[in-house]
Amino acid sequence: MSIEKFIREIPKAELHLHIEGSFQPELMFDIAKRNHIEIPYKSVEELKKAYKFGCLQDFLDIYYTGAGVLLKEEDFYDLTMAYFEACRENNIIFAEIMFDPQTHTQRGVSFDTVIRGIQEAREEAKEKYGIDSLLIMSYLRHLSEEEAFKTLEQSLPYKEWITSVGLDSSERGNPPSKFRKVFEASVKEGYRPVAHAGEEGDADYIWEAIDLLGVHRIDHGNRSLQDENLVKEIVKRDLALTVCPLSNLELRNVDVLTSHPLKKLMDKGIKVTVNSDDPAYFGGHLNENFLQIRKALDLTKEDIVELVKNSFQYSFASEEQKSGYLKRVDAFVADFQD
Ligand code: ADE
Ligand code: ZN
Repeated sequence: MSIEKFIREIPKAELHLHIEGSFQPELMFDIAKRNHIEIPYKSVEELKKAYKFGCLQDFLDIYYTGAGVLLKEEDFYDLTMAYFEACRENNIIFAEIMFDPQTHTQRGVSFDTVIRGIQEAREEAKEKYGIDSLLIMSYLRHLSEEEAFKTLEQSLPYKEWITSVGLDSSERGNPPSKFRKVFEASVKEGYRPVAHAGEEGDADYIWEAIDLLGVHRIDHGNRSLQDENLVKEIVKRDLALTVCPLSNLELRNVDVLTSHPLKKLMDKGIKVTVNSDDPAYFGGHLNENFLQIRKALDLTKEDIVELVKNSFQYSFASEEQKSGYLKRVDAFVADFQD
């Protein structure tokens, strides 16, 4: 049996994907042109050459520059639709999409423009391709809590389109505790909390995310292995980690994929999911993450099935949706032929 074929074809969910990080250079150039915006790179090739990062901040600087060409509703629609095309190629049938409103509102683009463009694509993807999705509104942690409160306020008229709130951007020096009050207020509004923690920050940031923000999932969380008590607590509270292998490699959180902690985390009893984070910048969508981490860590077919099932089980889909998705996975596994 070809494990590669199995990985490519198994129905999957993606729980950690920044829509701005799915912005392919070709589309970026097209949108820049139609919006009459200069990108500080002469060509797609030159831009791609700049995708060499020493750390998270190196990447974020380029990521925010790229997002700077998005101005109109149709730009956000095109960006999101391009991700759904990738979902089809990767057999992603359910996607939880993060978006960073402040990356755009800070530049004078309205919240309404951003979310309407994304929402239109979501509705079309459901109708045309049968792909279900939901939205995670992420606060930028390098900005103040007051700015996050403004974003929360702006989101309220669109509450029915948003399921969850997250926390992303520069981790070090911006601990979860900085956003305790705005997360409390977000949860009161019905949003389900998640946060990036333990990507570059230490285990104490993960403690803060679970104790102070009450997150339902931890984005990345690789560094939980620094603290045995934390590992026990994550298992006890049944919190899943949204792990992003190629992102960790490209942002130098691991030197080589063979030293990636994914399997260690699984062996400790933590529920792990595999995700692409920012696929346009880190060398591949979800299938590529699965293929490369499988090879690097010699994962078995059973490991792959477990990871895929976790992504549905620990999603924010309804219980009814979850049971339907899990049945599809079981049927795929039973019927799979090389
Ligand atoms: N924003 C987009 N990708 C991110 C990442 N990997 N970590 C933190 N913030 C991000
Ligand atoms: Zn991320």
